[in-house]
Amino acid sequence: MPEQPANSLTVRDNRTGQEYDVPITDGTIRAADIGQIRSGEDEPGLAVYDPGFVNTASCKSAVTFIDGEKGILEYRGYPIEQLAEKSTFLEVAYLLVHGTLPSKDEYDSWVHEITYHTFVHENVRSFMQGFRYDAHPMGMLMASVGALSTFYPDARNIHDAENRHMQIVRMIAKMPTLGAWSFRHAQGKPYVYPDNDLGYTANFLSMLFKMSEQKFQADERLVKALDVLFILHADHEQNCSTNAVRSVGSSQVDPYSAVAAGVGALFGPLHGGANEAVLRMLRRIGSMENIPSFIEGVKDGNERLMGFGHRVYKNYDPRATIIKKACDDVFEVTGVNPLLKIAQELEKIALEDEYFVKRKLYPNVDFYSGLIYEAFQFPPEMFTVLFAIGRTPGWLAQWLELVQDKEQKIARPKQIYTGDRTLDFTPASERWAQ
Ligand SMILES: CC(C)(COP(=O)(O)OP(=O)(O)OC[C@H]1O[C@@H](n2cnc3c(N)ncnc32)[C@H](O)[C@@H]1OP(=O)(O)O)[C@@H](O)C(=O)NCCC(=O)NCCS
Repeated sequence: MPEQPANSLTVRDNRTGQEYDVPITDGTIRAADIGQIRSGEDEPGLAVYDPGFVNTASCKSAVTFIDGEKGILEYRGYPIEQLAEKSTFLEVAYLLVHGTLPSKDEYDSWVHEITYHTFVHENVRSFMQGFRYDAHPMGMLMASVGALSTFYPDARNIHDAENRHMQIVRMIAKMPTLGAWSFRHAQGKPYVYPDNDLGYTANFLSMLFKMSEQKFQADERLVKALDVLFILHADHEQNCSTNAVRSVGSSQVDPYSAVAAGVGALFGPLHGGANEAVLRMLRRIGSMENIPSFIEGVKDGNERLMGFGHRVYKNYDPRATIIKKACDDVFEVTGVNPLLKIAQELEKIALEDEYFVKRKLYPNVDFYSGLIYEAFQFPPEMFTVLFAIGRTPGWLAQWLELVQDKEQKIARPKQIYTGDRTLDFTPASERWAQ
């Protein structure tokens, strides 16, 4: 038997007895190589069935590294713990988009550009005012981000680097404006214009909460805590919404349309909607004595412990640890949220219970973020909007990588067809006459 290359996989197809050498690169085999394996000349090539892409790499990426077993998260090689402690959200956004940390001049001009693109066209405002009084802010955000594509038709020129940069700046800058206005809308309050004297996060808080005062100055500790939350959410490699951005972006549509798809994906309760679900769950549990019966319900499969479990992190979610610390800082200003006690008790029980230990279920980023957001007096519907604002630089960094990646193709997965074949069609008039 000829010697096989060390970095390869030998596959024997027992249908034909034939053996194939499939090269292994970066710990992966190419699905196209598997596609060469056929049971007969006219038969389709072998394919891989992987609902939810549990073990399928869809791209090469240099943006974010995660080791789920060890609980490591790095943006462009920098550990999340250091970024959360020592950086700012706009610096992290620069890092994600450009791949390196900015010099002083680069940072100043980045902050300046973003600050001066926070305003939106007045028609965006009218468009948003057209929503029903009780519209979910995520629906408003998704629609208004998509609508931006009509205000910037030049964004379709995705092959021009300068143009891409312009849209990236616009989107990071305008997201807080759109998010804040979707919040004010539900409250029947006037939309507040951006205040360009304030930093990114302080300006967002001003657009959310300013009433008749001349200037809205948020407590610095709250500004810092929200900035940290944005950093923690800024990217998370190929999660559901990033995959949506890449999948839609792979058709070479403009970035606003691609990011609107990401916002839509984030809206779902298994993704960004989880922190809203955590809060509702904590409220439903209501008091400490209801915790044991709730846990039993989870173990019987009638309930799900929202904010626990993660597709990737199987030991702990490093973001959850940082959020717990941010919780303390925020509660120092706002007072302790009574639901915190229930959350802590749930966490304690779950971390000791065999059901959760065996399945490697640990608190994820959403378990505590909802409590912080509530302390800011955000209604649960706003939680995912905050996530979306934080995730925008990540979506854009991934989109940028996608459009420059020569190996990328339009996303078009295979299927296993399970339906009928070659039926004879009888016209309705004959079918219904019988
Ligand atoms: C995040 C999540 C979707 C990951 O799902 P996944 O990787 O597909 O994991 P699975 O759904 O296959 O779960 C594996 C096992 O753990 C159980 N499980 C997973 N998450 C659970 C949870 N939050 N509560 C109770 N049981 C859970 C599943 O029932 C399954 O049990 P089984 O092996 O007896 O069937 C899932 O853990 C979940 O729904 N968590 C709650 C929602 C949430 O917090 N999402 C935010 C993620 S940042």
